[in-house]
Amino acid sequence: MERITATLLDEVAALGRADVVDLRAAFAYQLPVEVICRLFGVDDSQRAGLRKVVDTVFDTTTTPEAAQANAEDMYRILTGLAEQKRARPGDDVTSAIIQADSDRFGRLTDAEVVDTLILMLTAGHETTVNLLDQAVTAMLTHPEQLALVRSGKRTWSDVVEETLRWQAPVAYLPLRYAVTDIDLGDVVIPEGDAILAAYAAAGRDEAEYGETAGEFDITRGVKQHLAFGHGIHHCLGAPLARLEATTALRMLFERFPDLAFAEPSARLVPMSSFLSNGHAELPVRLGRDAAV
Ligand code: HEM
Repeated sequence: MERITATLLDEVAALGRADVVDLRAAFAYQLPVEVICRLFGVDDSQRAGLRKVVDTVFDTTTTPEAAQANAEDMYRILTGLAEQKRARPGDDVTSAIIQADSDRFGRLTDAEVVDTLILMLTAGHETTVNLLDQAVTAMLTHPEQLALVRSGKRTWSDVVEETLRWQAPVAYLPLRYAVTDIDLGDVVIPEGDAILAAYAAAGRDEAEYGETAGEFDITRGVKQHLAFGHGIHHCLGAPLARLEATTALRMLFERFPDLAFAEPSARLVPMSSFLSNGHAELPVRLGRDAAV
C-alpha cells in the first residue's frame, strides 16, 4: 500500500507542478481502486469497464433503463473475470473465492462467485474514495486539527474515525425491508416497507455525541459510529479501508505540507448521489513538494 501510495504521489506531484490538481480523481480514487483491483487480480484491460459500471451503481440520477443496462454490463464483466480465473488461477482473492471449499458449505456456485465479486469490487471502489475525499476536506478546512496530528498529539486514526462519524462515506443504503412490524416508539415501520439505512444521520445524533455532534473534532475520542454498518453485515472491508486511509493521509500530508484548496471549500460540489457522500472534484494546489 505504501508503494502504491508513493507512486501515486509522484504522479500527483507531476500534475501539480503545472496547475491545480483534482485530488479526488488523481489520488483519492486511484488508491482504493488500485488496491482492490490488485487484490482481486483485475488486469488493466478490465479496469476502465469496471470503473464505469461501479460509478453508475452509485449514481442515483441514473434512469431505470440505464441502471438495468449497467447491471447487465456489470454481470458480463465480472462473469468474464471469474471465467478467466477459473481457466488460469492466480495469486488473488478472485481465484481464492472460486477455489474455496468448506466442509460445511462446499464450493460457491458460479452465480454466487459472480455476486460475491460484484459486492466486494463495488464496495471496494467508491467507499474509501469518499473517506479519503472527506478526510482531506476536513483537514484542509480545520488547520488547527491538522496541526494536532502533525505535532503528534493526535493520530491519523483519530482523523479517520471522526471523518467516518461526521461524513459517513456511504450516507444511505437502500434495499432493506421490514420483515415484521418494527415499533420505534414514536413510529411503527410496517412489515414489508422499504427501509433506507441513514448512516450519515446516525453519526450526527446529538443523543449519542452531544450538542457538538455536527462539528468535526478529532479530540472527541469517538469510540463508535455506524459508518461501517452494524451486526452480521458489518463491513468486511473496514480494516482494509482504515489501513488505506491512514496510510494515504499520512503520506499525502508529509509529502505536501502546504496542501490547500485552490478555491473556497464552500464551492465544492457534492456527488450526484444520495448514497455516495463525496465531492465531484477536489481542486487543490500542492505547494512545496517535500520529496524534491
Ligand atoms: C470507508 C470505506 C467503507 C465504508 C464506509 C463501508 C461501508 C459499509 C457498510 C455501511 C456496510 C454495511 C451494509 C449493510 O449493512 O448491509 C458494508 C458492508 C460491506 N462492505 Fe464495506 N465499506 C467500506 C469499505 C469497504 C471495502 C474497501 C470493501 C472491500 C473489500 C468492503 C466490503 C464490504 C462487504 C463485502 C460488505 C458486506 C458484508 C456483509 O454483508 O456481510 N467495504 N460496508
